[in-house]
This record gives sequence, structure tokens and C-alpha cells, in this order.
Amino acid sequence: MNIKELVSQMTLEEKAAMCSGNDFWHTEPVARLGIPRTMVSDGPHGLRKQPEECDGDHLGLNGAIEAVCFPAACATACSFDRDMMYDMGQILGKECQAEKVSVLLGPAVNIKRSPLCGRNFEYLSEDPYVAGELSAAYINGVQSQNIGTSIKHFAANNQETARMSASSNANERTLREIYLPAFETAVKKAQPWTVMCSYNQINGEYASQNHWLLTEVLRDEWGFEGYVMSDWGAVRDRVKGIAAGMDLEMPGSNGVNDQAIIQAVQSGALSEEDLNASVERILNIVFRYEKGKEVGGSVFDREKDYEKALEIAKKCIVLLKNEGVLPLKKEEKVAFIGGFAETPRYQGGGSSHIHAHKVTSALSMASEYGDIRYAKGFPADADRTEPVLFEEAMKTAKDADKVVVFAGLPDIFESEGYDRIHMQLPECQNVLIEKLLELGKPMIVVLHNGSPVELPWADRVQGIVEAYLCGEAVGEAEMEILYGRVNPSGKLAETFPKRLEDNPSYLNFAGKSKDVDYSEGVFVGYRYYDSKDMEVLFPFGYGLSYTTFAYGNLQIEKKSESGRDGINVSVDVTNTGEMAGKEIVQLYVADHTQSAIRPIQELRQFASVWLEAGETKKVVMELDERAFSWYDETQHDWYAADGVYEIRVGRSSRDIELTAEVILTDGKEKKPVIDANVMLGDLLDYSGTKKYVEQNLVQYLDGFTGGKAIDECDEMEKSMIYYMPLSSLRSFSNMTNEKIDEIVKELNALL
Ligand code: GLC
Repeated sequence: MNIKELVSQMTLEEKAAMCSGNDFWHTEPVARLGIPRTMVSDGPHGLRKQPEECDGDHLGLNGAIEAVCFPAACATACSFDRDMMYDMGQILGKECQAEKVSVLLGPAVNIKRSPLCGRNFEYLSEDPYVAGELSAAYINGVQSQNIGTSIKHFAANNQETARMSASSNANERTLREIYLPAFETAVKKAQPWTVMCSYNQINGEYASQNHWLLTEVLRDEWGFEGYVMSDWGAVRDRVKGIAAGMDLEMPGSNGVNDQAIIQAVQSGALSEEDLNASVERILNIVFRYEKGKEVGGSVFDREKDYEKALEIAKKCIVLLKNEGVLPLKKEEKVAFIGGFAETPRYQGGGSSHIHAHKVTSALSMASEYGDIRYAKGFPADADRTEPVLFEEAMKTAKDADKVVVFAGLPDIFESEGYDRIHMQLPECQNVLIEKLLELGKPMIVVLHNGSPVELPWADRVQGIVEAYLCGEAVGEAEMEILYGRVNPSGKLAETFPKRLEDNPSYLNFAGKSKDVDYSEGVFVGYRYYDSKDMEVLFPFGYGLSYTTFAYGNLQIEKKSESGRDGINVSVDVTNTGEMAGKEIVQLYVADHTQSAIRPIQELRQFASVWLEAGETKKVVMELDERAFSWYDETQHDWYAADGVYEIRVGRSSRDIELTAEVILTDGKEKKPVIDANVMLGDLLDYSGTKKYVEQNLVQYLDGFTGGKAIDECDEMEKSMIYYMPLSSLRSFSNMTNEKIDEIVKELNALL
């Protein structure tokens, strides 16, 4: 039987019930029609499945099955590796098959507007291209196993403060260019089975009932085919939600909203077609899972998946500084200082918190690596100076050749549910690091944090390794990198500003008001720092290696004269060092057409390449017209003006190796929006109306032209004319309102 027929056999009560959870984690069954109950569970970086006997919760508080905790998104984004994300997704899909979970609630792709967002650890990047590409790969990986995903949180959920009621206020261009593209890319490249709408409002309308967001954009424009589920408890007006395209309320509302739906349909306030459409979309996914369910096929092999988590972690860790102190040598006496060496922070708090079946720490691996002495120095789960630990650490360090401090943010500093209030590490860590520096020993700091931190001693230590929250295998991974068994290749997917006040959202982040104004617009992250040419602690895209890479032979090949049908960019990358390694090549585009106020450059492609020592490979990256475009609200569409653009290829946003210019032509002209107040310059700029102004309006401009043609006027005269609204001609000529109406009509007929 097909889904439509099935829906036609359902009662109104059954259909209303289908649009909300049967309980915290399951969809509604209808036994008489053979509709099964299916389970959804959190992700994104592991399977948090709560068995039936546990009270369901959405904050990682109650029990969950033992599972494998992969690196969190803050870390996996640093791989810039689509294939790796696909592989991780595939593994998670297999785990879900084994555990009979139909949809994995991830990836989480909200843009990192501020380093203070408590949930940044779970999100990928400050850049929507990175977030889109990597989340699409992850989705394709999970769904290759006939398991669904739920890309979240749609949309503009960029803080935890008052997340269930605040309104993210941003203009359409900012939403389109920054906060929506990761979802758009994922829908277009991976068709997630479901999308999870966010808690917050967008410009005053809750995401869970936002027709523009959930139907006009997500479905009508992008072609999303699955169903939309709410974040847990995100529904406000259930009837409005159905009409807006929000299909499944999670968890259920104990029937309260079922009744609201039934009454609304019965009263005519809600069309039954809208309800049927939601039910149909939910059942499509329920049966898609049922059809692809492996009965007894997959086994959740935690040890095997640990090895995969280890492999992934090694690709994510970022080497931020190395003044000849890394890799460590077996024969060196090394002091490991800091509680994170023993109990590393490897994931964040909240709904993504995985019950890890095992965790390795650097210390647990130490015996394999040589003469390592350990002193706790400070606890990993608090900001507390303990004099005994402090003294012990100083003593241990004194006797060593090198000192490695394992530092980071305790769980209490950042989590789902609340935001950070500053960017500092715990005071006890900074104090101890400063004291250890007085010993004058070579020092490396290994960081375990979900979001950028201020590093007041960064210019005085010799090495910095950013391990982020790198999953349960973090200890084994960081040891392999510290001792050079693995060459680090991660690069930052977010900027580390020197201080919080430098961040573009600083004046408008969170706060007490329910209105959060995204006043920085599209200038988020490196888009801001680079446009302002500001110094940062570590730039977007930055990461070191134990080897070096050279770039050469940048080639640009347009697939058509206009450059709008695709451009191939190739560059030769050579490993000029002694050790094999992976380079992440980044391609930024700079718009020199002056057609709009835009960030000075934007990441539009990236590719990772593995090179043996001395090896050279050609890296080819493709750009489509969108790579040059900005979102023009007057046209409600993407627009790339004719003119010069610069292709910038390099190893980070601040380390561009090669550039080349490309010229776009034959672009669609921007049509002016014509009403009584249209600026004459907009009419002169548009080929379809230029002549009309020069022939029919010039008679009203004598006061500015002195009887000359517009082209013969001087700069002052031309600019007065250019910026003149049509309606102002009433003040400088015998123009009448009737005449203005007539002119507006004639001009619109020319578009
Ligand atoms: C939480 C989170 C969401 C999660 C859901 C279920 O509140 O915002 O990401 O998937 O509830 O736990």
C-alpha cells in the first residue's frame, strides 16, 4: 500500500497523534494499519540512546547505553576532510542500525557567531561553506546505512542564553549568506531525512511555526523532501506549526496538541490537506527506515569503532605553535602537568553527551613513549588552585627536560543550556603556567576546549597543540602527535581572537533582552577580522605541520567566456620537508567589483592532499557562479556583478600563497525597484531604463544640468542627479504627483 492510501485510511485522531512523539524518543505507531513505532536518538558525535527503562531527557542527564564518543564537531571541522566526515557518518549509521535507531539527531551546524556560545563545541565553524560541506558529507555517510539524520538547529540558534524564547534578528542577506547556507548545502547535496527546527524566534517568529523558513525556503526553494521535527519543547502554537510545515512535535504534548489539531481541522482553522501532508512526510521516513532496517545485520563493535574514533581524532588535532620542541623524543625526560593529562575533557555537556565505553588519556598511554613524569598541578573539572598539587608540579617540572601542560576548559565553563561569560582558561591554569615558565624549560601546552580561549602566555611557550574535545580516543591521539608518530594536519575552523572584545558580536551577544540583533550582519568571524585587518591570536584556517608545503603553478580555467558556468582552479602543492603529511589547501574569493559592501574575502573551496616527503600533486578545485555571489535583498536572489574577482589560494585566511584575477561578464542586470522614490541613479544604471531618464526626465533636471545632457554634466551635477529620488523633482521642477505616477507606470513597463 502506498503512503497516500495509508494516510487516507487514518482517522483524524490518528493523524493528529502521528504529528507528535509517542514518548520522548519514538514516533507514534498505528497497529491496526501496520505503522510501526520508530526511535530517534541524539548524536551528533556518538549514539546517545536511552533504553526504555531510562527516563528520557534532552540534556544528557539520565542513563544511556555505552557507546563510542567520536570527536565533537569543533574538532572534526578542523580536518576539513569531507571523506573523513562521510566515514564517521557511515560508522554512526551502522551503530544506529545495530541499535535500531531510525534517525540520528545531527549534525549540528549553527554558525559560531561568538566564542561565548556554550554549545560551540557541538557546532562546526564560523564559516558556512565549511559547515555545509562537512555536514553534507556526514549526512551522506549516515544515510548510506539507511539511517536518517536531523540537521539542526534550523535556524540561527547561535546562543544558549534564553534559547527557547529569544529572537535572532537578522536581515535576509545575513541569514542567506551566513546562517542558512550550511542547511542549504546539506539539503541540496545530501537530502537529510529530517531537519530539526530550532527553539528561537527568527525576526519575531518562532522557528517551529515559521512558514517562510520551513516551507518557502526549506521546501519550495531548496527542495527538501523529508520531515521537520521540533527541537524538544520548541513548539509554541501547534496549529500554526502544521500550517508552517513543522511536522513532528518532539516530545509529545500528552495529547494536548493532538486535541488542538483535531479541533482546528474540525473548525476549519487548519486545512486537513496540511495535516495530511505532515503525516505523509513522517510516514515516508518511518517506512523508509523500516524498509532498510537490517534485521540482525549490524553489530555495534565498540572496540573497532574506538579505533575509528582514534583515526579521526588524529586528523583533527591542530598544531598551533612549534618552536623546535615537537615532536618529543623518546629519550627526553618529559613532565606531564595538569589534570587533563589524566582525565582529558573529550566532549561537551548536554544532549550530545555520550556514555563513552572507554576513554584513553595521554597518561594512560605514557608507558609506550619513554620517560614521562606526571603531576596533576590543577584539577581538570574545576578552577581551583591546590598548593600541594601546585608545588608537586613545580618540582616535577624542575627535574624534566621539557614540560607539557595539559590544560583546557572544565565542563562547568561551557555547555548546552548556558553561554560562557568570558574567554579565559581557569585562573589556576594560567597561574601555574606562568610559574612554570619561570623555570625556563621548553614548554608545550595541550588544550582541551570546545571554543576559542585567550592564551596570555602564547608568545612565551614554545609549543601549543589544540586538541579541542576530541572524543574518547583523545589521549592516544594526542600522544601519537606529540611524539611524532602522526604528523598533525588539522586547521582551525574558527578564529581565535586576541580578546573577546574584538569579536564582532561582542556588543550584541545574548544579553538580557529577548531580542538579539545580529548587527554585525555578514561580518562574522574572519569575514570581520580580515575586513578590518585586525590582529588575531590564531586565524581561521591556520594549523602547522611537522613538514612544510610549497605552492606553485596556480591555473584558472573558465568553462565559458563569461566565467559563470564553472571555473576550475588548480595549484601544485609540494611537500618540501622530511615527513609525509596532509595539507589543507584553501581557496578564498575577493570581490573587486564594488557592487556591494562585502567581506574582503570568503572561503569558497578547500581540499586536503596527502604528500610523501618531496612529492608534488596538483590540487583541482571547482567554483560555480554562487562562489562569487552575494545575496541581494532587493532582488531576493543571489547576484555576482560583472567585473574583477581575485582567487586567493593558501594555507590559511592570513597566509595566501598565490592569487589570480578572473573576470565575470554577461551577468544578469540588477533590475531597479521602481516606485515614486526610486533613485534616478538606479534607473541610469539599468540598461532598460537609462534612455528613458536621458530622454524623458532630463527636462525636469534643468536646475542641475543647465540644459546640458546628463553625460555632459560635471561631477557635482552628476552626483546630485544620481542620488535624486524621482519624487524630489517636485521641489526642483513643475513635476506633479500625477506625472510621477504616470512615469512610474511607464518605467515599470520597461523592466
Ligand atoms: C535538545 C537539543 C537538541 C537535541 C534534543 C533531544 O534540547 O537542543 O539538539 O537533539 O534536545 O535531546
